[in-house]
Amino acid sequence: MKPLLIANWKMNPLSLEGAIKISNNLPRDKAEIIICPPFIFIEKLKKILDIGIGAQNCFWEEAGAFTGEISTLMLKLMGVTHVIVGHSERREIFKENNLIINKKIKSILKEGLTPILCIGETKIEKESGETWDVLKKQLKEGLTGVNRDIIIAYEPIWAIGSGIACSSDVAEEVMVFIKKNTFFDNKILYGGSVNSNNVTDYPSFSGFLIGGASLNPVEFNKIIEIITQ
Ligand code: PGA
Repeated sequence: MKPLLIANWKMNPLSLEGAIKISNNLPRDKAEIIICPPFIFIEKLKKILDIGIGAQNCFWEEAGAFTGEISTLMLKLMGVTHVIVGHSERREIFKENNLIINKKIKSILKEGLTPILCIGETKIEKESGETWDVLKKQLKEGLTGVNRDIIIAYEPIWAIGSGIACSSDVAEEVMVFIKKNTFFDNKILYGGSVNSNNVTDYPSFSGFLIGGASLNPVEFNKIIEIITQ
């Protein structure tokens, strides 16, 4: 099976021209690539490049008085196939808890799209030996009532944007733990400072959730090249 690469652009780049530049030369025949750009670029990127598009967030109600929100249904109508949920930046900055994340996952599945649930521990939680409890709670509460397979991304928070990726051994242990603590045959991705130097450290993962390196087309292409050799 082709590796799955989810490019999480976060709040980048500033223009549509920039977005096209980053994504118009990706080797799409080699890997399943899903670009998750800011909402405002979704429709145009889909039309201009016809690439796989995901969203970085969603809201569970279909429409109505929810200022500033974008519904899962709206995303589906724009051609989005995947939605990232529970990214640590949403958990930390926007105070999204497991209950909110669970509602989002259910709305994504209801619309027939694929959720990418991010789980991961902070540096403090890791150092105080709480990793397994944190991950278990995120999985249990995030997936309550979810009765089909999804994509789960292990993204240790201390690894995101830090340049320090999780070691191969620990990532493998987490992979086994996720499988033990979930019911379905979910695809499991690794995310957190993935680059062309460390991407071969995670052979049993189905793919990667990539932030910074996915904004650099040379580096992103190199990563794809390496994992598909
Ligand atoms: P990073 O981000 O690859 O820049 O560490 C990953 C993410 O936040 O999803």
